Amino acid sequence: PANLIDRQPGVQLARLKKLAYKSVLSSDLFDAEMLYELSKVAAYLQLKKISPEAALHDKILATAFFEPSTRTRLSFESAILRLGGKTISVAEAASTGVAKGEKLLDIGQMFNSYADMVVIRHTQQKAIQELSEYLRIPMINGGNGSDEHPTQALADWYALLKWKPGLAFDTLSEDRLHLGIVGTPGNMRTVKSFLILALLFKQNIEQITIVSEMADPLGDEVQSFCDSSPVPIYINNDLQSVLSTLDVIYMNSIAFLGDGYRTLGSRFKLNKGSTLKKDAVILHPLARKDELDVCLDHTRHNLYFNQADGAVFIRQALLLSIFDRLEHVLPDTLIE
Ligand code: CP
Repeated sequence: PANLIDRQPGVQLARLKKLAYKSVLSSDLFDAEMLYELSKVAAYLQLKKISPEAALHDKILATAFFEPSTRTRLSFESAILRLGGKTISVAEAASTGVAKGEKLLDIGQMFNSYADMVVIRHTQQKAIQELSEYLRIPMINGGNGSDEHPTQALADWYALLKWKPGLAFDTLSEDRLHLGIVGTPGNMRTVKSFLILALLFKQNIEQITIVSEMADPLGDEVQSFCDSSPVPIYINNDLQSVLSTLDVIYMNSIAFLGDGYRTLGSRFKLNKGSTLKKDAVILHPLARKDELDVCLDHTRHNLYFNQADGAVFIRQALLLSIFDRLEHVLPDTLIE
């Protein structure tokens, strides 16, 4: 985190004020400057280790997960608790009125009364958009079916910006990256949200290769924003043929489809025998199956645990921005 702060210490508060009381439905809410400023706040919080406890003392965050989660729900809860706030939680749909046939929109009305912000994960893509029309409090999309997972993408890019802070600037032409994405942006929400943010760093990304066994891994919506991408995007179905040229490898295998999930890309695996570039890093939103061998955990390529650790701090930065409380944690010397 220190690299990120040292490179450009001041936080440009005005850029983050744009997030005040906003809902986060898609990664397309963020621009490169906002992401960089959020990452600097996260780095400050991560460096301090113990977060200022009183910043969100009067706030309640509801985490409503109608689909399983380890990291997203727990890291949001850890984030607000460490900022002095409180949390109420739905860990599974069966523990709510849904089990008795209650409509999601009625549950949404209760969030308005019981909490100051809600993080929702749902199996259905349209659930988040529908709920947003009923909520009077900010909502964060914690993953909606196969559509998006915007705060996972924040955690992904926070890890990458800590790895190479210069990514956010115009001046790194010698370090332009070849990004490999093993997965299908058309029906993997983490991959889609990651790709949307990747295009913000066009000046430092030479090309993106999407490795997938599917003939059409993009789908119509993703295809349309890839068509106007300033970065060349290639599709490949042979990981081995491209692996040794990749600087960043984003792995995922789980695609959420309706009420279930499928493992896509399971024939693409990384293990000790993989021909990785010496300095290549691997990202994975987790949970993993056997596509990412544990023998890589103790190598220089492992950025995925850093990615998961940092998620608490980038989510703290987001909560503080949405609640417009950044001044409560940042010292005056860091505010621009
Ligand atoms: N990365 C991620 O979304 O993990 P969880 O499913 O455990 O929340």
